[in-house]
Amino acid sequence: MEPNWTIDEKRHAGTEHLDPEEVARFDEKMPFDPAGEIGVLRESGLCREDTVVDFGAGTGVVPLAVAEHCDRVVAVDISETMLAAVDEKAEARGIRNVETVHDGFLSYDHRGEPASFVFSKDALHHLPDFWKAEALKNVGRTLESGGIFRLRDFVFSFDPHESRPEIESWLEEKKRSTTFTDEELYVHFREEYSTYGFVLEALLERVGFEILESTYEDDFYATYTCRWLGCSE
Ligand SMILES: C[S@@+](CC[C@H](N)C(=O)[O-])C[C@H]1O[C@@H](n2cnc3c(N)ncnc32)[C@H](O)[C@@H]1O
Repeated sequence: MEPNWTIDEKRHAGTEHLDPEEVARFDEKMPFDPAGEIGVLRESGLCREDTVVDFGAGTGVVPLAVAEHCDRVVAVDISETMLAAVDEKAEARGIRNVETVHDGFLSYDHRGEPASFVFSKDALHHLPDFWKAEALKNVGRTLESGGIFRLRDFVFSFDPHESRPEIESWLEEKKRSTTFTDEELYVHFREEYSTYGFVLEALLERVGFEILESTYEDDFYATYTCRWLGCSE
């Protein structure tokens, strides 16, 4: 049992990820072609007998796509509504090797063979930085030694002294180019926990990952490929 001072992951999950109507619109609102990520995992050595775990799996776009390349896929999410969407799609497509687990980054307790790969996209920013470190430790506990963690998320790489004009201009661009409401865009800064790349890189390294590759896009998004080196815990 988690101690009383542990963060309530569901309370920080984003109300839109718990609401059935919003979840039904999710794939249309945030379309993503998983082919590039599947390519990265395969180039990193993904093979048939591997286990892949996706933290914050959402509607399962990546877990369902990777399922044809390996024996076991675990889709972990703190939202039961999201996981119901994964189960529904898996059933419709006849996919039998994707397990859904209702847990969070912190509460997930991996069972069975350690994972060779962990994937996570657009989910870690739901946790404040101290809890990101706790989450990354659990990603490490889920992986075999030398296992690969592929992380994509909203991460800042602008100069901290330029944060306000950078964010204002990002908001203007997103208001023009996306279907997100103004309020949904503001919530990302007001109530969620995207952090700077230099903070996230330090967290990854301090908990025991080697960063093999980091890519920063438009000062607001980052992708990391990391290897789990383990720790003395
Ligand atoms: C923006 S969605 C991204 C979903 C999916 N990874 C994708 O890219 O399509 C964020 C997901 O993270 C989940 N989430 C938020 N906090 C979480 C936590 N602490 N542990 C696990 N999942 C979490 C939400 O329920 C939601 O499904």
